[in-house]
Amino acid sequence: MANQKYIIGNWKMNGSLNSKGLVSEIDDFCRSKLGDKVAVGICPPFPLIGLVNEWSWESPINIGAQDCHFKESGAHTGDVSAVLLKEIGAKIVIIGHSERRSNHGETSQLVCDKAKAALLAGLKPVICVGETDEERKSGNAIKVVLNQIEQSCPAENANIIVAYEPVWAIGTGNVASPQDILEMHNEIRAKLIEIYGHDGKKIQILYGGSVNAKNAEEILQTQNVDGALVGGASLKAPDFIAIIDAAINVSN
Ligand code: 13P
Repeated sequence: MANQKYIIGNWKMNGSLNSKGLVSEIDDFCRSKLGDKVAVGICPPFPLIGLVNEWSWESPINIGAQDCHFKESGAHTGDVSAVLLKEIGAKIVIIGHSERRSNHGETSQLVCDKAKAALLAGLKPVICVGETDEERKSGNAIKVVLNQIEQSCPAENANIIVAYEPVWAIGTGNVASPQDILEMHNEIRAKLIEIYGHDGKKIQILYGGSVNAKNAEEILQTQNVDGALVGGASLKAPDFIAIIDAAINVSN
């Protein structure tokens, strides 16, 4: 188990110039309640990163992106470099989300290259892994996820976060059972220790997939669950704040 829980909101392709109220509510809560046992991140779409950073100036909230390119610069139309993300105030970057793996054909090798670029730029990569429904039903979930970990995580640098997001649990309301989460997170922890040695014990392993205000506390109490990567519920201030609050409660 890592010492600190991390709650990260992944806005996906949501949010707008009208999202200031949402950010301010979360920011107010974090400024008054967040101790050092819980960290909070918000990952809006690229064009909002600088703005969200301004809206939460000097806040404990870490702003992040949802992807980056593996190169520093160059002829890559439509892509964004980790270096630029760092320059505009990002601290973290989600890499290899299942929606990018499936919608954009991202392989674990590419995910690993992106994670390396993020680390080089001084960003903390949140490397996502997770099995499909079919892979779970055929009994291959653990094998698939551990393979993804092995191929997606840069072996020379443990300054990463891992997010286990079963594809079938994302945006469906079908949250994984505490037993399934426990089993997978323990397997991931063992794999991280195999790759990184002692440092593998400190890597935060987040769970993502239909986390909400009601189920957050139980999930966050599970061994080797060091936080949550939250989609839909991160777009509603009361829900996201309740999840952060649950993390504070289980940390005390
Ligand atoms: P939901 O919380 O909407 O299921 O999304 C999870 C996710 O994909 C976060 O990255």
